Amino acid sequence: TVAHAAAALNAKVATVAHRGASAYAPENTLAAFRLAKTKHADVFELDVQETKDHKLVILHDSTLARTTNVETVYPGKKPWKVSSLTLAQVKKLDAGSWYSAKYKGQRVPTLAETLSAMRGSGLGLLLEIKNPASYPGIEGRIAAELKRSPSWLRADPNERRLAVQSFDWTSVNRFHALLPAVPTAVLGTPAVADLPKVAKYADQVNPPYKGLTASYVKKVHAAHMDVLTWTLNDRASVQKAVKLGVDGIISNKPDIVYGVVRSR
Ligand code: G3P
Ligand code: CA
Repeated sequence: TVAHAAAALNAKVATVAHRGASAYAPENTLAAFRLAKTKHADVFELDVQETKDHKLVILHDSTLARTTNVETVYPGKKPWKVSSLTLAQVKKLDAGSWYSAKYKGQRVPTLAETLSAMRGSGLGLLLEIKNPASYPGIEGRIAAELKRSPSWLRADPNERRLAVQSFDWTSVNRFHALLPAVPTAVLGTPAVADLPKVAKYADQVNPPYKGLTASYVKKVHAAHMDVLTWTLNDRASVQKAVKLGVDGIISNKPDIVYGVVRSR
């Protein structure tokens, strides 16, 4: 799994940059992904959605309002859903200025551009399928894109640098059926009784940190899955999460996680 690969590299606990190093650069942009490397992440996380013409783009919200200048560029398109604009239209937007003038000119990246730009980075990728119920067939389109980037799909478990996750477990199951070589994760906290069922199609359980216990982590491990928890941005919480026995920590500040993990 991604966590095991990261463990083999340099850490007992994988450091995952949430939407890139999103505390320091505009989330889900190539700038944030590249900065994840500088900030010592092992893995970067991103959210995949679709434009009106079914192109895979990296965006967290279902609308472009918060993280681009869409309101000024397309005032008539309220509520600015990503699914209501074509890729050509989305590419006209600035995805950096809302964060800081320093990042003016950042664009909403496509999945293809991200896979290509980050291929040589040495970072793993935690790919979230966001809102799949709104995009029927998105799992197949993601699988097809990944197949076009074989370096992200190495068969050797120690070389695996990719995992696919979603809050929609049906979507995770569907993706697993399409591309079983790629590790998968369910976002959330499945009931302990359901863990054997989840383990049939998932390699990780990625729960929110709030309410997570050492006993639950042990049960997930007993079901042969890893645990990556989110979203922890301060040293004290990261230290507590590490004590729970998790395999990875998803953070907007990967340097903070690295500082704790490295000093162990
Ligand atoms: O990777 C965990 C986290 O990304 C899930 O929440 O809303 O940030 O996509 P969200
Ligand atoms: Ca996410």
